[in-house]
Amino acid sequence: MALDTVSLGRTGTKVSEIAFGTWRFGRENDEGDIEVGPEQAHRLLDAYADAGGTFIDTADMYGGGRAEEYIGDWLADRDRENFVIASKIYWPTREDPNGVGLNRKHLRRNIDEILDRLGTDYVDVLYTHRWDDDTPAREFMRTLDEFVRDGKVNYLGTSTLEPNAWKIAKANEIADKRGYEPFTVSQPRYNVVNREIEGNYLDMCADYDVGVVPWSPLAGGFLTGKYSRNKEPPADSRAASDQQFVDSYLTPENFDALEAVESVAADVGASPGQVALAWLLHHDQVTAPIVGARTVDQLEENLAAAEVSLTPDQFERLADAKRE
Ligand SMILES: NC(=O)c1ccc[n+]([C@@H]2O[C@H](COP(=O)([O-])OP(=O)(O)OC[C@H]3O[C@@H](n4cnc5c(N)ncnc54)[C@H](OP(=O)(O)O)[C@@H]3O)[C@@H](O)[C@H]2O)c1
Repeated sequence: MALDTVSLGRTGTKVSEIAFGTWRFGRENDEGDIEVGPEQAHRLLDAYADAGGTFIDTADMYGGGRAEEYIGDWLADRDRENFVIASKIYWPTREDPNGVGLNRKHLRRNIDEILDRLGTDYVDVLYTHRWDDDTPAREFMRTLDEFVRDGKVNYLGTSTLEPNAWKIAKANEIADKRGYEPFTVSQPRYNVVNREIEGNYLDMCADYDVGVVPWSPLAGGFLTGKYSRNKEPPADSRAASDQQFVDSYLTPENFDALEAVESVAADVGASPGQVALAWLLHHDQVTAPIVGARTVDQLEENLAAAEVSLTPDQFERLADAKRE
């Protein structure tokens, strides 16, 4: 199979229709074990690239910087120009009062550290990982604009601001007035059971030409159908080691929505996870969902979602499965 190519929002850059997320690379679990080490990370990146994947999502804090290092090592044997690399800044990466948020000192120091770990001169997309109400928007929009002018960053993105769409609109109005680069990509959580962005946020994205690159398109694995009501989660699953995940995802309403996904999956002969991804792939406003996977088998199953076709009626059944 080969993934199709789509435009990154309204920019001129093309990306594969499914992005690959590296949040679990280099991440230590509660027992102190690394969830996805360097060899497994490289196997996953190989499988993604072999399927035509070009859009790699990471962040400065994933695995305390290890995720970017694993990607950098992998890219060293490849043509970097064939990939669209996105990273993020906000969370602390050091003990320092100015080591968190979107203040100029933190942004300037971290962009150089990101490029160093990735072994590249530029990232294609730099997201603000969270919003920083302590730093004026004009301060960080100007600093981010410098990164674009300096060639360190191609496009600016912003993540996880739902439902406060107005903040992105305000920042883009500041950018427009002062001639700064605006946000052209956003990365909210969006999937069959998390609909916070429907309405106001998606309307803002359409009006300001902001592309939508959803994270947790499988609701962290919930939508694969691997969890059941009133049963212990599988031992090697995210729910087995994350009570917050259990409390927010393994709810009666979500299991009701999952039944709708499973019913469409039976109709089209695909897995529930593939149908949940296909729903986002059929969504007019979605650029490319970012799938996560710990194993190559998981990743290959997820990438095959690009081959699942939904009728308008099946799309609507999934849209109706849960509303905020
Ligand atoms: N901007 C942000 O704040 C933010 C937040 C979260 C994520 N992200 C980005 O989005 C990416 C994806 O997020 P996510 O990991 O939550 O996405 P996801 O695709 O919803 O969930 C991925 C998890 O589901 C399970 N899974 C995946 N495919 C499976 C399959 N075929 N069968 C069974 N289980 C499967 C795996 O967990 P287990 O096997 O461990 O159960 C996997 O780690 C991240 O890597 C990161 O790049 C960004």
